[in-house]
Amino acid sequence: MSTRGPGAAAERRVAVVTGAGRGLGRTIAQVLHREGYAVVVTGLKQEAVEQVAADLDPSGATAWGVSLDVREKDEFERVLAGSVQRFGGVHVLVNNAGTARAEKLLDISPDSFRDVLATNISGAFFGGQVFGRYFAERGHGRIVNMASLAGQNGGTSTGSHYAAAKGGVLTLTKVFARDLAAQGVTVNAVSPGPVESRAVEEIVGPEGVDALTRSIPVGALGSQEFIAKAVVLLAGVDAGGVTGACWDVNGGLYLR
Ligand SMILES: NC(=O)c1ccc[n+]([C@@H]2O[C@H](COP(=O)([O-])OP(=O)(O)OC[C@H]3O[C@@H](n4cnc5c(N)ncnc54)[C@H](OP(=O)(O)O)[C@@H]3O)[C@@H](O)[C@H]2O)c1
Repeated sequence: MSTRGPGAAAERRVAVVTGAGRGLGRTIAQVLHREGYAVVVTGLKQEAVEQVAADLDPSGATAWGVSLDVREKDEFERVLAGSVQRFGGVHVLVNNAGTARAEKLLDISPDSFRDVLATNISGAFFGGQVFGRYFAERGHGRIVNMASLAGQNGGTSTGSHYAAAKGGVLTLTKVFARDLAAQGVTVNAVSPGPVESRAVEEIVGPEGVDALTRSIPVGALGSQEFIAKAVVLLAGVDAGGVTGACWDVNGGLYLR
């Protein structure tokens, strides 16, 4: 496998996904793999990401599970080096890892504020720096950041720390997109509203899901599979004309 350029038709593209031990990140890893990518499945819990990778490819030839805490820049460096060693190169970074906490504005502690900020915004910043430099040197790369409707409208039950961080993700998406565009690197965001997921159930409780669903104009929670397909579209070699964009998947909750 060549380590330079977007890759010949026969070359298997390689994608790194953060926060892929469960939820949307796992679905994104699965859909990328189904679409022919070798996938580096990363997350906080080594066991969880190893399991996701083993389910994709027990041989390990096209899937690798490895821990990566997005709050630490050197963890991105370690995973990039390991991915290049294992697969010969990387073409795509999906900054999916995030955390939301249902905490009231005036009750959020400094530690919680710092932690939620760090978790939700570090991928877009540290991941963007580490992989952005690597992609720019090769003249090709795709970065997709997972934003949130909360970053656009201030959010509701997910807390102001989460909303502020996701607003930051959207801003960083534009800054990285602008600075890396000339080097063949695109940087985009997908911005879901409430998605069918354990995370939503944990925030609103099982009993809150129906009311939440009724509040969405299209009458349905977002689909993980559809969001993953949007990520695949933005990750493609042919997606070079889209950068600095934010693709809303919010069921009509926020119109602009
Ligand atoms: N679900 C929604 O309705 C919704 C809506 C809008 C945006 N989003 C965004 O979509 C992304 C995925 O959400 P989800 O619903 O799949 O949430 P989730 O089920 O809670 O998954 C988030 C993943 O991120 C991991 N993670 C947390 N902190 C991390 C860290 N410091 N380093 C690396 N990984 C870390 C978690 O690992 P552990 O399981 O080990 O904690 C988990 O695997 C997030 O960015 C979220 O903000 C979700």
